[in-house]
Amino acid sequence: MNILAFESSCDETAAAVVKDGRTVLSSVIASSADMHAVYGGVVPEIASRKHVEAISGLADEALRQAGVDKSDIDAVAVTYAPGLIGALLVGVSFAKSVAFGLGVPLIPVHHVRGHIAANYIAHPDLEPPFLCLCVSGGTTALVDVRTYTDFRVLGSTRDDAAGECFDKTARVLGLGYPGGGPMDRMAQGGNDKAYVFPRAHVEGNPLDLSFSGLKTAVLNLIHNADQKGEALDLHDLAASFAAAVSDALIPRTMEANQLTGYNRIAVAGGVAANSRIRADLTAACERAGAKLWLPPLELCGDNAAMIGCQGYYEYLAGHAAGWDLNAKASLDIAKG
Ligand code: KG4
Repeated sequence: MNILAFESSCDETAAAVVKDGRTVLSSVIASSADMHAVYGGVVPEIASRKHVEAISGLADEALRQAGVDKSDIDAVAVTYAPGLIGALLVGVSFAKSVAFGLGVPLIPVHHVRGHIAANYIAHPDLEPPFLCLCVSGGTTALVDVRTYTDFRVLGSTRDDAAGECFDKTARVLGLGYPGGGPMDRMAQGGNDKAYVFPRAHVEGNPLDLSFSGLKTAVLNLIHNADQKGEALDLHDLAASFAAAVSDALIPRTMEANQLTGYNRIAVAGGVAANSRIRADLTAACERAGAKLWLPPLELCGDNAAMIGCQGYYEYLAGHAAGWDLNAKASLDIAKG
């Protein structure tokens, strides 16, 4: 079964052709990140306009690179939630018209379910159930992946996502947007104990997280040093910051793993590319004797191959949409 998939939830426009869920025949991505870099964050109107310009050409390119004709497409999958509403609507409208024109089913895919599915592409042996640490620019959650289409959130951030914290810190340091990658590179060789940042604990669910205190602490440190004319060691600062994020994520991941009893852990989303988080989780899983699946770096960020992969399993579960499918800015992964 060939699925033509589209992703346009934020600043990447992407199209892909995926065969039988796990074989990626093509995957093409156009990013408007350079345009947002000037403003230090995504400008929704610019993102939407760039999606409109790019999506048709990317669809053609995905078919060309896959070596398949439009008539070989059996279904169209699209990210419909969560994300920037104007950006999502471009993908949803385009996918709807393609599916209608080809006379094939339209499959709605939750963006974070897609991120989780990126692991299926890279790891043929991975099947539910497992625990997934989902960390991106908009999401930070511990998700119990019970089946390909049955998800339960065990814990999530009460405020900022981990990726947003990386991005805001990078912006203040003048490292550009998106800032997670540059912050990661800056952290290499730095002393992770040079600066002391808070590790937040929230009341209620011990698996919930909070990053707003960390964000405020690092931004205050930078502004105070700036006002006093004091120099900061950016390598040490980036390393200490990455350690604080990792210290928030890894113990909770291992606690959630114990709760599920699976001893099977995967990671998903843009922040899954972070070298400190990958190293710490690898070590923690070794200590706990848990099996760990990490997505390759090229599948951590937004792409349409992961949407085609998850779309296949949504299709098998009978989750096709009507022509009245709408985009949603926010949606619980369990309800997606
Ligand atoms: O998954 P993604 O491409 O988009 C969302 O669905 O949100 O994630 C983007 C996020 C950005 O916040 C970016 O700074 C972060 O992933 N990111 C990283 C790294 N690479 C990308 N954060 C930390 N370390 C990295 N190496």
